[in-house]
Amino acid sequence: QDQLTVGLLGAGSVGSQVARTLVEERELISARVGVDVRLVGVAVRDTEAPRDWRIPGELLTTDAEELVDRVDVVVELIGGMEPAASLITRALSRGAAVVTGNKALLAARGAELTAIAAEHGAPLLYEASVAGAIPILRPIQESLSGDRITKIMGIVNGTTNYILDQMDSTGASFDSALLEAQRLGYAEADPTADVEGHDAAAKAAILGNLAFHSPFTIDDVHCEGIREVTAGDIEAAGASGYVIKLLAIAETRAGDDGESGAVLRVHPTLLPRHHPLASVRGAFNAVFVVAENAGELMFYGQGAGGRPTSSAVLGDLVTAARQLRTGSVTAPAGPSAQQALPAMSID
Ligand code: HSE
Repeated sequence: QDQLTVGLLGAGSVGSQVARTLVEERELISARVGVDVRLVGVAVRDTEAPRDWRIPGELLTTDAEELVDRVDVVVELIGGMEPAASLITRALSRGAAVVTGNKALLAARGAELTAIAAEHGAPLLYEASVAGAIPILRPIQESLSGDRITKIMGIVNGTTNYILDQMDSTGASFDSALLEAQRLGYAEADPTADVEGHDAAAKAAILGNLAFHSPFTIDDVHCEGIREVTAGDIEAAGASGYVIKLLAIAETRAGDDGESGAVLRVHPTLLPRHHPLASVRGAFNAVFVVAENAGELMFYGQGAGGRPTSSAVLGDLVTAARQLRTGSVTAPAGPSAQQALPAMSID
């Protein structure tokens, strides 16, 4: 095959950046893969909607199923459960590669989709689903696969970090900081998912899943958002040398009966100002990982926004396309019955 075709589903802030790079940087992406990579269609709900980058009209379609059925790589950036889940299943079932940033879907049905991908030998990659541009899933799945991860603590939602940081550093009100985060393209379409912690909880489930080889879902994550955090709380924390951060935490724990389990939780946390995560400002994200032999590791970068997140999507696209080209789909091991840890509730 001397060409690989790509179909993009969704052209929001991330999707339109992915389209732009695939069109403007086609030579570079093709060189990285080793064959010509061509964007052949972008499925959207409304072909006339304004976009961050003007997608050539001939690429736009409203028929997502038809597009999925004729491409080698499907990039799903619609988000949400349906039609994303059906379209991904349809693509994987015919052996097409799928790249997605859909954290909500992965946190609900990740194990099922991974099994469909494995059954059909189809690459399924989703680096963009957690912490935007930060390479964090592959380090957990691959680089640390010879070690035992014991704890992950992450600032994995840019919107809430931006809000807390603005309230702390400029005295902005919660509502005005949220509006600004929406304007900058960090927030979800419905920012309740950010503010109530559900977006971070989905990411905690995905991280826990990969770190502990266990089929956790968002229902296993104890979740508390930042709605109740007041300017007074932030000021009081600051006066005692602390900052308030919304953290997603996944850690192993020995139960009373001596059996190990995993605790997954998202909640506002007091961090001493000298903690590495305390210096993460604005919409930046950071993930702090502790492994038995590696010790402490920290991954830092832009966790939201169209352009940074498109970098992770395109990295997956190149990887998936290489796998299709060489015929060596290396699906990293998913949840495993031997290693899976039960989810434990927090005390
Ligand atoms: N709404 C998300 C955030 C986007 O603010 O982090 C990235 O997943």
